[in-house]
Amino acid sequence: MKKYFALLLTLAMVLSLAACGGDKPASPDTPADVDGAATVFATVEEGKLHMSTNAEFPPYEMTTDAGGFEGIDVEVADAIAKKLGLELVVDDMGFDAALTAVQTGQSDIAMAGITVTDERKEVMDFSDSYATGIQVVIVKEDSPIQTVDDLANAEMIGCQKATTGYIYCSDSPENGGYGEDHVTAYDTGALAVMALVNGQIDAVVIDNEPAKSFVAANEGLKILDTEFAVEDYAIGFAKGNTALLEAVNAAMAELKADGTFQNIVDKYITAE
Ligand code: ARG
Repeated sequence: MKKYFALLLTLAMVLSLAACGGDKPASPDTPADVDGAATVFATVEEGKLHMSTNAEFPPYEMTTDAGGFEGIDVEVADAIAKKLGLELVVDDMGFDAALTAVQTGQSDIAMAGITVTDERKEVMDFSDSYATGIQVVIVKEDSPIQTVDDLANAEMIGCQKATTGYIYCSDSPENGGYGEDHVTAYDTGALAVMALVNGQIDAVVIDNEPAKSFVAANEGLKILDTEFAVEDYAIGFAKGNTALLEAVNAAMAELKADGTFQNIVDKYITAE
């Protein structure tokens, strides 16, 4: 029953792609257009698209005062779910748990400003990239740390647990890191920033958009001009969940083509 339902949705998507083909020709090899059987997908819960995330990452995912969720990832996932005829369910958990949940089939997608890395590609599949993330350094305004090179002199750097910032910084100096002894992992980026404000650590390495929001929310902090690393964000899937991945890629391509994606981004990120 579930499979049949998904197949109908896939056909509906193909038809709608064909119907709105005025500006872009319906190409026979768009993912949703490959032969029906290959694009059948099932979801964790019938009629729902479960997204595992860590809603501690503004402006990509955060909680609202009313106890709901908002942010770029949340709204884009909601728009994708609607295109697939599904209802989005946001499952909020630790960042490492959000990555594991999709690998173990507890969620359909992991969407949490997730950086594509070779190590993660070994345990999960990724959609087409939808954003660029930059690892930046937050310090106190009067910090002796003025450039990324000065990070080598930091006694202690704070990062969110299991993030690429943590992975790079805790790596050995031979590999461009600072060693585990010089990096503290916090459950959230906000907790790392609080430790910086309190003088417990010398710097925080975190993605640029959350960094901007944390700096805006706290007095006396700044982001260094020099960048630590440039990365691609993508949606994570269980390995081999190709039919759902292709359907999501097709839905995302439509959202990009019709301007919906950019409208969501512009709602949360104002160009300087
Ligand atoms: N881009 C970084 C990574 O993939 C950090 C993502 C953290 N996301 C979050 N929702 N807390 O490791």
